[in-house]
Amino acid sequence: MNDLLIRGRVLTFVREPQGMEDSESYRFYEDGAVLVGGGKITAVGPYGDLAAAAGERVQLIDHRPHLVLSGLIDTHLHFPQTQAIASYGAQLLEWLNTYVFVEEQKFREGKHAAFIAGRFMDELLSNGTTTAVAYCSVHPESVDAFFTAAEERNMLMIGGKVMMDRNAPEALRDTPQTGYDETKRLIGKWHGRGRAHYAISPRFAITSTPEQMEIARALVAEHPACYVQTHLSENRDEIAFATSLYPEARDYTDIYARYDLLGRKTLLGHCIYLSDREISVLAEAGAVGVFCPTSNLFLGSGLFDRDRFDRLGGRYAVATDVGAGTSFSMLETMDEAYKILHLQGQRLSPLNSFYRMTLGNAQALGLEHRIGSLHVGADADIVVLDSRAKSAMELRMQVASSLAEELFVLQTMGDDRCVAEVYVAGKPMKRATGRVVAARERELELI
Ligand code: GUN
Ligand code: ZN
Repeated sequence: MNDLLIRGRVLTFVREPQGMEDSESYRFYEDGAVLVGGGKITAVGPYGDLAAAAGERVQLIDHRPHLVLSGLIDTHLHFPQTQAIASYGAQLLEWLNTYVFVEEQKFREGKHAAFIAGRFMDELLSNGTTTAVAYCSVHPESVDAFFTAAEERNMLMIGGKVMMDRNAPEALRDTPQTGYDETKRLIGKWHGRGRAHYAISPRFAITSTPEQMEIARALVAEHPACYVQTHLSENRDEIAFATSLYPEARDYTDIYARYDLLGRKTLLGHCIYLSDREISVLAEAGAVGVFCPTSNLFLGSGLFDRDRFDRLGGRYAVATDVGAGTSFSMLETMDEAYKILHLQGQRLSPLNSFYRMTLGNAQALGLEHRIGSLHVGADADIVVLDSRAKSAMELRMQVASSLAEELFVLQTMGDDRCVAEVYVAGKPMKRATGRVVAARERELELI
């Protein structure tokens, strides 16, 4: 394949922005370009310089006046809940029992899992998300479907089989032994294959017995290169139930700490009601709290206190949490993040939002050398954003006078319609029609 020269208004971050005016935190080329070869970025800079240096065989794709950024990253969502979005009326535990534990039973069927996995990946791509960290269901078939769909699209994806051996329907329960055996087999099969990474996934303290938590401890010790994902402190009833099941633990965080599940590769969804002590424990371990704004509003869970994480040195990431989260769009997610922080008197600058969706989330995953920014040697996962995709945006943009203002319009008014193109390892995945290529091909296969 020829090298690609992707031309547009190129924006990439080099560190976390400290306020609205922090122009040292990013690089912006008004007429810029990214040169791509062999699935990697081989040069980034002003278009004139790159065009002059590029060889004869380069294929030019001109995206002006759109913005060209590193592909967006989602650090927490549930692929088996793709058809459970918008399930009405319940808070966390009732919502899980009424809707989610019913929906997830369908993933016993490999065919269903494969169908949803394909649509799930395409939905991510339509929204400009090129990497995500996902929970699969308890069934190993769902993990095979998940990584197969990612591999077909060459996406860097992180995921794992949920482990749960109590407080769930019989059909969704594994045992400490089968949870161990199946997880171990899936790690052997998928972790490090192509762009796949495995996440050891005890769902949360409520659905794992102490015996299964011991098993999770063993798996983490045996596979330190894998991620660990679970849920922590999302809802007051959940906290009361979890801590009642582990009476020896000081608090909810201590349950996971006691089983050595907190480390730099651990992602903890929600983290809303943590004490200062608990945030300090996470900070000490380098574990990552995951802020899921649309989910936290949808389930009426509560407000993530970002400033306390910052003050106590806690690491945090941002995520959609589909299907409690109501959108696959990281733009819509950051719109809600802005409002949640605003309600608490905290500010989220547009620069910080875009940093969070890209380099910030890559750093939370320890993958900043490969994804999250446009640098030489990075994987060529790239999103192209159109700030005028809707008529109301076009009108608003007529009076926008700075890059930060444009980013704020994109975040506040934007959605998948703003994703003009998305590249995965240098391959364009979305056509002008707005449909993702693979989705169409899949449907043709099914007919
Ligand atoms: N806690 C345990 N499982 C889940 C889940 O599937 N979604 C959310 N939002 N919280 C959880
Ligand atoms: Zn979740």
